Amino acid sequence: MAKQALQVAIDGPASAGKSTVAKLVAKQFGYIYVDTGAMYRAVTYWSMQHNVELTDEAAVTAAMQSLKITFKPGDPDQLVFANQEDITTAIRQPDVTNNVSTIAALPRVREILTEHQRTMADAGGIVMDGRDIGTTVLPHAEVKIFLVASAAERAKRRYAENIQKGIETPLAQLQAEIELRDHKDSTRKVSPLTQAPDAILVDTTPLSIDEVVATIAEIIKKQSSTI
Ligand code: DC
Repeated sequence: MAKQALQVAIDGPASAGKSTVAKLVAKQFGYIYVDTGAMYRAVTYWSMQHNVELTDEAAVTAAMQSLKITFKPGDPDQLVFANQEDITTAIRQPDVTNNVSTIAALPRVREILTEHQRTMADAGGIVMDGRDIGTTVLPHAEVKIFLVASAAERAKRRYAENIQKGIETPLAQLQAEIELRDHKDSTRKVSPLTQAPDAILVDTTPLSIDEVVATIAEIIKKQSSTI
Protein backbone atom coordinates (compact mmCIF):
# COMPACT_ATOMS: atom_id res chain seq x y z
CA MET A 1 0.00 0.00 0.00
CA ALA A 2 1.39 3.41 -0.93
CA LYS A 3 2.03 5.60 2.08
CA GLN A 4 0.40 9.01 1.89
CA ALA A 5 1.82 12.34 2.98
CA LEU A 6 5.54 12.00 2.30
CA GLN A 7 8.18 14.64 2.89
CA VAL A 8 9.73 15.71 -0.43
CA ALA A 9 12.96 17.74 -0.28
CA ILE A 10 14.08 19.59 -3.41
CA ASP A 11 17.47 21.28 -3.25
CA GLY A 12 19.74 22.80 -5.84
CA PRO A 13 21.48 25.95 -6.99
CA ALA A 14 19.84 29.31 -7.81
CA SER A 15 17.58 29.41 -10.89
CA ALA A 16 17.55 25.64 -11.45
CA GLY A 17 13.73 25.86 -11.57
CA LYS A 18 13.16 24.47 -8.07
CA SER A 19 10.19 26.62 -7.10
CA THR A 20 8.34 26.25 -10.43
CA VAL A 21 8.75 22.50 -10.35
CA ALA A 22 8.16 22.09 -6.57
CA LYS A 23 4.88 24.02 -6.83
CA LEU A 24 3.61 21.82 -9.68
CA VAL A 25 4.66 18.60 -7.95
CA ALA A 26 2.91 19.72 -4.73
CA LYS A 27 -0.25 20.49 -6.70
CA GLN A 28 -0.22 17.09 -8.41
CA PHE A 29 -0.01 15.24 -5.07
CA GLY A 30 -2.20 17.66 -3.07
CA TYR A 31 0.80 18.51 -0.88
CA ILE A 32 1.72 21.82 0.77
CA TYR A 33 4.55 23.73 -0.91
CA VAL A 34 7.09 25.62 1.21
CA ASP A 35 9.65 27.93 -0.40
CA THR A 36 12.39 28.20 2.25
CA GLY A 37 14.32 30.77 0.20
CA ALA A 38 11.33 33.09 0.71
CA MET A 39 11.85 32.73 4.48
CA TYR A 40 15.49 33.88 4.25
CA ARG A 41 14.29 36.68 2.02
CA ALA A 42 11.59 37.65 4.55
CA VAL A 43 14.17 37.93 7.36
CA THR A 44 16.37 40.04 5.06
CA TYR A 45 13.46 42.35 4.20
CA TRP A 46 12.39 42.65 7.84
CA SER A 47 15.92 43.43 9.03
CA MET A 48 16.36 46.08 6.33
CA GLN A 49 12.99 47.64 7.22
CA HIS A 50 14.11 47.86 10.85
CA ASN A 51 17.52 49.32 9.95
CA VAL A 52 19.31 46.35 11.45
CA GLU A 53 22.95 45.79 10.50
CA LEU A 54 22.70 42.57 8.46
CA THR A 55 25.96 41.10 9.75
CA ASP A 56 24.91 41.65 13.41
CA GLU A 57 23.50 38.26 14.27
CA ALA A 58 22.19 39.25 17.72
CA ALA A 59 20.37 42.27 16.28
CA VAL A 60 18.89 40.24 13.40
CA THR A 61 17.63 37.49 15.71
CA ALA A 62 16.21 40.10 18.10
CA ALA A 63 14.31 41.67 15.16
CA MET A 64 13.06 38.19 14.18
CA GLN A 65 11.20 37.92 17.48
CA SER A 66 8.57 40.33 16.16
CA LEU A 67 8.37 38.58 12.75
CA LYS A 68 5.90 35.83 11.94
CA ILE A 69 6.37 34.43 8.41
CA THR A 70 3.33 32.78 6.84
CA PHE A 71 2.36 31.51 3.40
CA LYS A 72 -1.07 31.72 1.78
CA PRO A 73 -2.27 30.18 -1.48
CA GLY A 74 -2.17 32.64 -4.38
CA ASP A 75 -2.44 32.48 -8.15
CA PRO A 76 -0.04 32.11 -9.89
CA ASP A 77 2.36 32.67 -6.97
CA GLN A 78 2.03 31.65 -3.34
CA LEU A 79 1.75 34.74 -1.11
CA VAL A 80 4.30 35.45 1.62
CA PHE A 81 3.41 37.50 4.69
CA ALA A 82 5.48 39.20 7.38
CA ASN A 83 2.87 39.37 10.14
CA GLN A 84 -0.10 41.01 8.34
CA GLU A 85 1.99 42.55 5.53
CA ASP A 86 2.02 40.96 2.07
CA ILE A 87 5.73 40.93 1.14
CA THR A 88 5.47 38.60 -1.89
CA THR A 89 6.75 41.22 -4.33
CA ALA A 90 9.04 43.12 -1.96
CA ILE A 91 11.21 40.06 -1.20
CA ARG A 92 11.99 39.59 -4.93
CA GLN A 93 13.38 43.11 -5.35
CA PRO A 94 17.12 43.47 -6.11
CA ASP A 95 17.93 45.07 -2.71
CA VAL A 96 16.69 41.95 -0.90
CA THR A 97 18.19 39.54 -3.48
CA ASN A 98 21.59 41.20 -3.17
CA ASN A 99 21.61 40.98 0.65
CA VAL A 100 19.98 37.63 1.35
CA SER A 101 23.22 35.60 1.27
CA THR A 102 24.52 37.71 4.21
CA ILE A 103 21.47 36.72 6.27
CA ALA A 104 21.62 33.08 5.08
CA ALA A 105 25.17 32.84 6.45
CA LEU A 106 24.12 33.61 10.06
CA PRO A 107 24.06 30.31 12.04
CA ARG A 108 21.44 31.37 14.61
CA VAL A 109 19.09 32.63 11.89
CA ARG A 110 19.44 29.27 10.15
CA GLU A 111 18.66 27.43 13.40
CA ILE A 112 15.49 29.43 13.99
CA LEU A 113 14.26 29.02 10.41
CA THR A 114 15.20 25.32 10.36
CA GLU A 115 13.10 24.77 13.50
CA HIS A 116 10.15 26.55 11.87
CA GLN A 117 10.58 24.50 8.66
CA ARG A 118 10.66 21.21 10.57
CA THR A 119 7.43 22.13 12.37
CA MET A 120 5.74 22.88 9.04
CA ALA A 121 6.93 19.53 7.60
CA ASP A 122 6.07 17.45 10.65
CA ALA A 123 2.81 15.99 9.38
CA GLY A 124 4.26 15.18 5.94
CA GLY A 125 2.38 15.92 2.73
CA ILE A 126 4.91 18.60 1.96
CA VAL A 127 7.25 19.64 -0.85
CA MET A 128 9.96 21.91 0.53
CA ASP A 129 12.57 23.56 -1.65
CA GLY A 130 15.83 25.21 -0.67
CA ARG A 131 19.54 24.54 -0.35
CA ASP A 132 19.83 22.39 2.79
CA ILE A 133 16.49 20.59 3.05
CA GLY A 134 17.75 17.07 2.30
CA THR A 135 21.00 17.53 4.25
CA THR A 136 19.95 19.49 7.36
CA VAL A 137 16.27 20.43 7.65
CA LEU A 138 14.67 17.06 6.77
CA PRO A 139 17.47 14.49 6.78
CA HIS A 140 14.85 11.70 6.97
CA ALA A 141 12.70 12.95 4.06
CA GLU A 142 11.42 9.97 2.07
CA VAL A 143 12.17 11.71 -1.23
CA LYS A 144 15.22 13.88 -1.87
CA ILE A 145 15.86 15.52 -5.21
CA PHE A 146 18.92 17.54 -6.17
CA LEU A 147 17.95 19.67 -9.13
CA VAL A 148 20.70 21.10 -11.33
CA ALA A 149 21.14 22.73 -14.73
CA SER A 150 24.20 24.25 -16.37
CA ALA A 151 24.90 27.90 -15.49
CA ALA A 152 24.51 28.81 -19.17
CA GLU A 153 21.06 27.18 -19.32
CA ARG A 154 19.94 28.81 -16.05
CA ALA A 155 21.07 32.22 -17.34
CA LYS A 156 19.13 31.63 -20.58
CA ARG A 157 15.95 30.78 -18.64
CA ARG A 158 16.34 33.81 -16.36
CA TYR A 159 16.96 36.01 -19.44
CA ALA A 160 13.71 34.80 -21.07
CA GLU A 161 11.77 35.40 -17.81
CA ASN A 162 13.24 38.90 -17.51
CA ILE A 163 12.34 39.80 -21.10
CA GLN A 164 8.71 38.86 -20.33
CA LYS A 165 8.81 41.25 -17.36
CA GLY A 166 10.36 43.99 -19.53
CA ILE A 167 13.78 43.76 -17.81
CA GLU A 168 16.80 43.65 -20.10
CA THR A 169 19.97 42.45 -18.39
CA PRO A 170 22.73 41.07 -20.66
CA LEU A 171 22.92 37.28 -20.73
CA ALA A 172 26.61 37.27 -19.76
CA GLN A 173 25.86 39.39 -16.67
CA LEU A 174 23.06 37.02 -15.61
CA GLN A 175 25.37 34.04 -15.97
CA ALA A 176 28.09 35.78 -13.91
CA GLU A 177 25.54 36.60 -11.15
CA ILE A 178 24.31 33.00 -11.08
CA GLU A 179 27.88 31.68 -10.83
CA LEU A 180 28.61 34.11 -7.97
CA ARG A 181 25.53 32.97 -6.02
CA ASP A 182 26.46 29.31 -6.62
CA HIS A 183 29.90 30.02 -5.20
CA LYS A 184 28.52 31.85 -2.12
CA ASP A 185 25.86 29.19 -1.45
CA SER A 186 28.25 26.27 -1.76
CA THR A 187 31.21 27.70 0.15
CA ARG A 188 29.42 29.19 3.18
CA LYS A 189 30.41 27.63 6.51
CA VAL A 190 26.95 26.70 7.79
CA SER A 191 24.76 24.32 5.78
CA PRO A 192 26.44 24.91 2.42
CA LEU A 193 24.64 23.78 -0.71
CA THR A 194 25.59 20.12 -1.19
CA GLN A 195 23.81 17.09 -2.55
CA ALA A 196 22.69 14.72 0.23
CA PRO A 197 24.25 11.27 -0.31
CA ASP A 198 20.77 9.75 -0.70
CA ALA A 199 19.39 12.49 -2.98
CA ILE A 200 18.58 11.72 -6.61
CA LEU A 201 20.28 14.03 -9.09
CA VAL A 202 17.98 15.45 -11.77
CA ASP A 203 19.75 17.48 -14.47
CA THR A 204 17.11 19.73 -16.02
CA THR A 205 19.38 21.21 -18.72
CA PRO A 206 17.78 19.29 -21.61
CA LEU A 207 14.30 18.96 -20.05
CA SER A 208 11.08 20.99 -20.23
CA ILE A 209 9.24 21.91 -16.99
CA ASP A 210 6.64 19.19 -17.68
CA GLU A 211 9.37 16.60 -18.17
CA VAL A 212 11.04 17.56 -14.87
CA VAL A 213 7.70 17.40 -13.02
CA ALA A 214 6.97 13.98 -14.56
CA THR A 215 10.44 12.71 -13.59
CA ILE A 216 9.99 13.79 -9.96
CA ALA A 217 6.41 12.48 -9.80
CA GLU A 218 7.69 9.06 -10.92
CA ILE A 219 10.37 9.12 -8.21
CA ILE A 220 7.76 10.00 -5.55
CA LYS A 221 5.40 7.22 -6.70
CA LYS A 222 8.23 4.70 -6.76
CA GLN A 223 9.42 5.73 -3.30
CA SER A 224 5.96 5.72 -1.77
CA SER A 225 5.29 2.21 -3.08
CA THR A 226 8.39 0.92 -1.27
CA ILE A 227 7.52 2.44 2.13
O1 DC B 1 16.01 30.26 -3.57
P1 DC B 1 16.18 31.76 -3.31
O2 DC B 1 16.97 32.46 -4.36
O3 DC B 1 14.90 32.47 -3.04
O4 DC B 1 17.04 31.81 -1.96
C1 DC B 1 17.41 33.02 -1.39
C2 DC B 1 18.72 32.87 -0.62
O5 DC B 1 18.52 32.08 0.56
C3 DC B 1 19.90 32.25 -1.38
O6 DC B 1 21.05 33.06 -1.15
C4 DC B 1 20.12 30.92 -0.72
C5 DC B 1 19.49 31.06 0.64
N1 DC B 1 18.83 29.84 1.08
C6 DC B 1 19.47 29.06 2.01
O7 DC B 1 20.59 29.38 2.39
N2 DC B 1 18.86 27.95 2.50
C7 DC B 1 17.64 27.59 2.07
N3 DC B 1 17.08 26.49 2.56
C8 DC B 1 16.96 28.37 1.11
C9 DC B 1 17.60 29.50 0.62
